[in-house]
Amino acid sequence: MTFQAMQSGRDVIFSPEEMSALRKDFPIFDTDVYGKTLTFLDSAASAQKPQAVIDTLQQFYSHEYANIHRGVYYLSQLATEKYEHARETIRDFINAAHSNEVIFVRGATEAINLVAQTYGRQYLTAGDEVVLSQMEHHSNIVPWQMLRDEKGLILRVSPIDREGNFLFDEYEKLLSEKTKLVAITHVSNALGTITPIKKIIAAAHKVGAKVLVDGCQALPHTRVDVQDLDADFYVFSGHKIYGPTGVGILYGKQELLDAMPPYHGGGEMIRSVTFEKTEYNTLPFKFEAGTPNIAGGIGLATALDYVSGVGIDRIARHEADLLSYAQQAMSEIEGLKLVGTAQEKSGIVSFTMDCAHPHDIGTILDQNGIAIRAGHHCAQPLMDFYDVPATARASFGLYNTKTDVDNLVAGLQKVKNIFA
Ligand code: ALA
Repeated sequence: MTFQAMQSGRDVIFSPEEMSALRKDFPIFDTDVYGKTLTFLDSAASAQKPQAVIDTLQQFYSHEYANIHRGVYYLSQLATEKYEHARETIRDFINAAHSNEVIFVRGATEAINLVAQTYGRQYLTAGDEVVLSQMEHHSNIVPWQMLRDEKGLILRVSPIDREGNFLFDEYEKLLSEKTKLVAITHVSNALGTITPIKKIIAAAHKVGAKVLVDGCQALPHTRVDVQDLDADFYVFSGHKIYGPTGVGILYGKQELLDAMPPYHGGGEMIRSVTFEKTEYNTLPFKFEAGTPNIAGGIGLATALDYVSGVGIDRIARHEADLLSYAQQAMSEIEGLKLVGTAQEKSGIVSFTMDCAHPHDIGTILDQNGIAIRAGHHCAQPLMDFYDVPATARASFGLYNTKTDVDNLVAGLQKVKNIFA
């Protein structure tokens, strides 16, 4: 029985039966690694896909495929309808006011570059300040540095403490009438810290700044309501929320998107073209030049439907339970140091061990069928803050169990046996 079929709607952490049904929704767990059962603890890098998403892609490519917004024929109209229905599903999932505020992009990286190169280029000028945090992923640092170098902007970095807590009072001190944009993560990909994003946005708005939120690591794990947050821009990648790769979303308030110039030029984003001039299309198409990742968009909607079916609040509680179990068990391993123990934390555990480099930890775990990430997590300024070149990182998805954590802990004991 699939999880969807058996869910009782109870407002509790998943029962063992529900958990086992949930895992059956993900065919990857039939895959053995080196003859061992897969323990997948790298959902922060990319989440596994439920059968429903795989089926959607197969069905679309097998029976429904055509280009969209172009054809007068049956298949093109069907594909267009499915793609636009997907946009509406995504709108509903993040509670955007209008579906034309939902722009399909390749992923969060493209979304942030889009905002930097359109909104940023048009509205930011020399001396304007952009506030980032110490915990940003490179994709929420480099686009702003590129713009800084072009326009003469000033980047300010909002600090964290050693536990990885976002220091709201210090952030407020950075804000002034010079602050024009705040670009901050909702959840740190390397530490799991949940930032007080609603307060961050409200404080930025008080000084007249706009706010872009990197929601990649938040949306799969917690309820997000862009209107309640009052986010100006909210970006995320589909593959981290059980959807296909190569598709993501830029949410932007309509009045901002309307006032921004287009990003890429090409088909779809135009209303009319002559060699003398081009009239641009309305939202959302103004930002969607070229044939998009049609199957990806439709598959993303299936992934969001899947998450909604499981229940995002139950997922959040389940992962919080796993996090506290994991942190407790791992803190008992001598020589293991948790990196990032903020009070508000999502299901991400970064750590180092006295006896082994993170890459060696990752390699030994891999030999035991356990997939984690080791490295700088595209957050080198954060690694510099902790004075480490890298960490090992275990991250949870809705399909993880305490057995996965037990396997991890047993694997870490093996690392100790080999290196200590
Ligand atoms: N940004 C992804 C991660 O944190 C790839 O692993």
